[in-house]
Amino acid sequence: MIDRRSFIRSSAIVSGAVLAGVAPVLAADAEIEITPREDGPEISAHLYGQFIEHLGGVIYDGIWVGKNSKIPNVGGIRKQFIDDMTRIGVPNFRWPGGCFADAYHWRDGIGAKRPRTYNYWQASAPDGVDVTESNNFGIHEFMHLCKLTGAEPYLAANMASGSPQEFHDWVAYCNAQVGTSSLADERAANGDKEPFGVKWWGVGNESWGCGGDMNPQEYATLYRRFVTQYPAYAPKPFLVAVGPRGHQPDLDLGWTKGFFEAMVGHRSPVDGLSIHFYTDFRNSAEKVATFNAQGWFDVIREGARIEDVIKQHWALMEKFDPKHHTRLIVDEWGVWYKKGEEIAPNYLLSQPLTLRDAVHTAYSFDIFNRHAEKLAMTNVAQTINCIHSLFLAEGDKFVRLPPYYVFEMYRGHMNARQAGIKIHCEDLNVPTAAGSATIAGLSGSASTKGKMLTVTLTNPSIDSPRSAVVRLATGGITEGRGQVLTHEDMTKSNTFAHPNEVHIAPFRVNIRGNLAEISVPPRAVVALELKLS
Ligand code: AHR
Repeated sequence: MIDRRSFIRSSAIVSGAVLAGVAPVLAADAEIEITPREDGPEISAHLYGQFIEHLGGVIYDGIWVGKNSKIPNVGGIRKQFIDDMTRIGVPNFRWPGGCFADAYHWRDGIGAKRPRTYNYWQASAPDGVDVTESNNFGIHEFMHLCKLTGAEPYLAANMASGSPQEFHDWVAYCNAQVGTSSLADERAANGDKEPFGVKWWGVGNESWGCGGDMNPQEYATLYRRFVTQYPAYAPKPFLVAVGPRGHQPDLDLGWTKGFFEAMVGHRSPVDGLSIHFYTDFRNSAEKVATFNAQGWFDVIREGARIEDVIKQHWALMEKFDPKHHTRLIVDEWGVWYKKGEEIAPNYLLSQPLTLRDAVHTAYSFDIFNRHAEKLAMTNVAQTINCIHSLFLAEGDKFVRLPPYYVFEMYRGHMNARQAGIKIHCEDLNVPTAAGSATIAGLSGSASTKGKMLTVTLTNPSIDSPRSAVVRLATGGITEGRGQVLTHEDMTKSNTFAHPNEVHIAPFRVNIRGNLAEISVPPRAVVALELKLS
């Protein structure tokens, strides 16, 4: 065995069943206690959000193939992308960056004649690769994508090379009614009479780095200049300030503290604080698709640190904002491996993710669900042909990567009420560079929507299944069904040649009174839908 359980506790689980007044179940490895709560916080659908940037093959080819392309498209947008995003109920897209946003001038992306401009990512492109921005995909094309998929737009304003005026003009262009502002009339002349109704606005991106290299005090001063005269067109905005790089060893608590200290006594609203958290393997030998047991667990363990990042920044913010007006937005998250395995040289950062990254996705979502009261949104970085992608696409080739299926399996949590979950399960000893560490044997989250209880679970073990009983604190279960994502080879992915290697399969659930009996395979993500009586 590569990983190993610490001890066996199945006898306690059997006695639990007797106490609950039902016939004893066979000894199980784990007991999962669920407490549905009518007043549980809502898990916003926006926790399952997306991020797309003008970076490598994300926009061009990934999403935008052009109106004259032979690739099936709707007004230039890849049809398969629209269909697959709609299928998982995509709640939002964050656009146009990322680092790109802080050099982007929105006027370059409107009208019939568009300039060719410098793209921030040119400096990271391999020799000979030209990433000059065509501006073929601008605000109208982005809004059409949102409309076609049912997603809400989340725009990032240019703070580093833009001005408050450019930002305010963009707001007016998007949100003013025709006839009230020349900018709205210009929007109508460009094909969209109805206002776009953009509510979510990011004020800068990574202003501590590519977005201006500022300290928190400098950023706070600029933030206030950008938002004080925000034009009051409907809808009421949700303004997101740049927050920390959470993946730093010290979690970058200094940024959050410095920013909120500098905002004390000022009136500018801060509705959201953005956290970026990359499971950062850029400077390690870890590869995307070739790894051993230690590599499997290193990624899972590192990714799970997001929970601490959320908790610590939230606790710090409480000192400045005891009622928590400001919510957290994890608007960039995902596993970032070192360069070298891209699908093509000009598809910068495109990573052929595997089952390991799907398990990481499930861990992240279970953490987000368990902290739903703190989080207004999260956005995976980035949706297609990039770091933690759901798809790869190149010309007429398109494939769903394993993380896509986790989005599909977790749909039941969107806009549901968080339920209490306690998992009693022995820990797992796992290999690390220093020897070994322990991680939870199973992790998960639960929520209810009317009479439907959704429970999602991850078994990170490479070789051991976990039998478990799911027990309701009150009430019974009348029906149950499940889905599982796993593969006997932990390094497997889907490729253009073999697109269905890793896929969702039906999962057996045995219902007995207020119990659901299951057996979670190793290397697996499971989603249960249990109908409450
Ligand atoms: O997602 C890629 C880049 O990572 C983004 O442009 C930037 O915000 C972050 O550093």
